[in-house]
Amino acid sequence: MDQRLFFPATERNREPIGDLLERMLPARGVVLELASGSGEHAVAFQQRFPGLRWQASDPNPDHRASINSWIRHAGLDHVMPHALELDVEQRPWSLPSHVTDDLKTMVCINLLHISPPTCTEALLMEACERLPEDGLLIIYGPFCRNGRQTSASNAAFDVSLRQRNPLWGLRDLQWIDSLLGPLPMDTIGCHEMPANNNTLVLKRS
Ligand SMILES: C[S@@+](CC[C@H](N)C(=O)[O-])C[C@H]1O[C@@H](n2cnc3c(N)ncnc32)[C@H](O)[C@@H]1O
Repeated sequence: MDQRLFFPATERNREPIGDLLERMLPARGVVLELASGSGEHAVAFQQRFPGLRWQASDPNPDHRASINSWIRHAGLDHVMPHALELDVEQRPWSLPSHVTDDLKTMVCINLLHISPPTCTEALLMEACERLPEDGLLIIYGPFCRNGRQTSASNAAFDVSLRQRNPLWGLRDLQWIDSLLGPLPMDTIGCHEMPANNNTLVLKRS
């Protein structure tokens, strides 16, 4: 059965995100993607980076069914593992050995604004525990800076998110920086992306 979901934004952002990933990802190893959603990014990036093993995940069963359906549709069954059930906030994460044995990088696209602040905290703490030294956590999405929105469209988006759930909303880059203080992880880049998004690149020290 075809259970593929189509998230329109993934068509617009997969190229710019992929272009940045190309400069950062290792040649080999496992990439763990959190909050993979429809799975369109996961399949596109597995195709673009064939030396890597792209492990998608999501807590939503419909999204995991979509990810697995995209994997089948793309003929990647022999390369890509099926989606893991993983809720970032439920710590400690339970990861299979094929991930823990060869994990190099984590990628998280469009999660932090659509989850409570505790989800950001959990992501950073688990990344510190799971990534090897020099491993990267790459986070894409809309952010604010120093308590200020960086564009009118982000400000409106933030209001609409908080109306849906008061705990949601754009995360502040300086707040994320403050969370990193006691953690063995440093910011090594914050890249401006199309449509007022950013990609934050954190490195396990
Ligand atoms: C806006 S969608 C983004 C999906 C995909 N990364 C993309 O960019 O198209 C947010 C995703 O986060 C997932 N999600 C929500 N809360 C989560 C959590 N606590 N841990 C992991 N994923 C979560 C949702 O199921 C959904 O698939």
